[in-house]
Amino acid sequence: MSEARSDAPEATMANGTVAPNTAEMPDTTPSSDVYAPSDGMIENANITAYMRKKGFDTYDDLYQWTVNNPQDFWADMAQELEWYAPWDQVLDESHAPFYKWFAGAKCNIVHNAIDRHLTTWRRNKVALIWESEMGEMRSYSYHLLNREVSRLANVLKSMGVKKGDIVTIYMSRIPELMFAMLACAKIGAAHSVVYGGFSVDALADRINDAKSKVLLTADGGYMRGKVIELKKIVNEALQRTPTIQTVIVTKHTGQDVVMETGRDLWLHDLFGLPIASALCDTEPVDAEDMLFVLYTSGTTGKPKGVVHTHGGYMVGTYTTLKMVFDIKDEDRYWCAADPGWITGHSYIVYAPLITGATSIMYEGAPNFPYPDRWWNIVSRYGVNVMYTAPTAIRSLMRFGEAWPSRHDLSSIRLLGSVGEPINPEAWRWFRDTIGASETPIMDTWWQTETGHFMITPTPITPLKPGSATRPFLGVDVDVVHEDGSSCAANEDGMLIIRKPWPGMLRTVLNDPDRYVSAYWEKVPGGVYTAGDSARKDEDGYIWVIGRLDDVIKVSGYRLGTAEVESALVSHSSVAEAAAIGLPHELKGNAIHAFVILRMGFEPSPALEAELKAHVGHEMGPIARPEKIEFVTFLPKTRSGKIMRRVLKAQALGQDVGDTSTLET
Ligand code: PRX
Repeated sequence: MSEARSDAPEATMANGTVAPNTAEMPDTTPSSDVYAPSDGMIENANITAYMRKKGFDTYDDLYQWTVNNPQDFWADMAQELEWYAPWDQVLDESHAPFYKWFAGAKCNIVHNAIDRHLTTWRRNKVALIWESEMGEMRSYSYHLLNREVSRLANVLKSMGVKKGDIVTIYMSRIPELMFAMLACAKIGAAHSVVYGGFSVDALADRINDAKSKVLLTADGGYMRGKVIELKKIVNEALQRTPTIQTVIVTKHTGQDVVMETGRDLWLHDLFGLPIASALCDTEPVDAEDMLFVLYTSGTTGKPKGVVHTHGGYMVGTYTTLKMVFDIKDEDRYWCAADPGWITGHSYIVYAPLITGATSIMYEGAPNFPYPDRWWNIVSRYGVNVMYTAPTAIRSLMRFGEAWPSRHDLSSIRLLGSVGEPINPEAWRWFRDTIGASETPIMDTWWQTETGHFMITPTPITPLKPGSATRPFLGVDVDVVHEDGSSCAANEDGMLIIRKPWPGMLRTVLNDPDRYVSAYWEKVPGGVYTAGDSARKDEDGYIWVIGRLDDVIKVSGYRLGTAEVESALVSHSSVAEAAAIGLPHELKGNAIHAFVILRMGFEPSPALEAELKAHVGHEMGPIARPEKIEFVTFLPKTRSGKIMRRVLKAQALGQDVGDTSTLET
């Protein structure tokens, strides 16, 4: 069994010991404080310029116009980008909920992310600054980025990769991951990035669902001074995948790896061949052609392959980054997420390049070798806009003010948060300590499925700590009861989106019925159900409370109880398993599992440790249960479904509620 890794930097101190579990739970009580934007911020914001151009005086008026005329608004934004051929229709609703945006148009997201900059001064602008925790640094201008992407695109073409194929990518946070995604898109193929923190089973499942023939990976990646042996995990996963014919391996960490003759090739060898020419035309595709599939956890069974397309996604990600993070040409922008998740797809790879930004990518832990690593990066590169997750903020907050105070953080103009509700205490610390008590925080609510920000402040929004504030332009959000009727102010309900938006998922790969039933049939009225509970206050501010389904957010990462349970039952000792999420001071939630053992196996601390390591090996370190309880009975409905709600209430010492369907 491979060594269990821990990718959750937030739970581990710089010296490798686990942080004591002593702090109070995050305070999630709504805060009534309101932080107004400064006059300077309002005056200079991209959104103010747009508001004035359209002749509106307030965000409310502009919002109202966009939500009444979403097609006009999104077409306006689309016109800021380049298309090979125009659309016939902004939105085709004829097969709802299989909506089409910019139907009939020809485009390619890479044309907007790279090609169009090459004929302007941005050709020489730094597109990407990359640094690894081990000290290696590289930077790429738009010109050089284009060369690297074109060479890889030609290599892929020479291997027969074409439109309609899905190429799987499994790497750590290195520039080649970005090049790989862009190279696929450039030739009209789709990518499926599997997060580098996932392991054997998770990788094999995703490759099999996408039926990939080509896999791009690396020998290894770095995390907290250790090498994550990606190629070793790949070799094991490929024993369970019949479709992969070719594996292209980037040399990064340099340790010995097993390469299979006839299947595995080093990227640097391929780049030495004439096929890897730096001249490659970008393939015009239909606006609705698949750009990527990204797997995400749902309520039941295997993860869903969420499908995104070129045209609408390109417009939605570009618009939101420009308006919310207010990106200007002179900015240095840093999204500290992993490109293997939607935040990285949209806001490390695509949107920053489309806006022509200079962005930063960091491979490693925030606290390696010391807890000021991130602040060191901010000051050295002069970061103006920084985007991260509450779990990381909480973990760095524990180390105190002394670490950030050693660095000049005065370049920071805007901060951002994503992934889970941010507790007001962490919000204030981020603003006060990192943002000099004046930097606004953009608390952005969105999902793998939504593609881009949906509920978010802009630089001109008065902020309430802990609330993602108001719907973005053109986005029609509500909080409703199960029958679809709107909730009263401050009443908890289901978060829904009433109208389609350009970056929305188009379907679930290989399972269109699941697309309809999971998102469009939960609430009557043809509306999109997000799966979150929320409330709207008297000012129309949205307060997201958490997931309503069996999705657990661990350190902002999305995991399904079903995946953890199936990893547990794949161990020879386990007959049945149930997983739940319980509140955790740093991770937001931690996984607790309940296990019924097979005959002949006895509960023991050693078996608990083995089962945790087994889940880490199969799924990845983020899915490792915090605690495993051995039980002889699991509460179930009469139809045999495990009542996780009951387990959770019991674990929290709460009233278990209605158990009338409980099997007795
Ligand atoms: O529960 C919400 C939470 O993250 C879920 C989406 O997870 P995922 O698809 O992995 O995408 C995360 C990054 C976009 C949502 O259903 N969530 C995300 N952002 C916020 C949030 N909850 C509260 N506030 C947020 N800002």
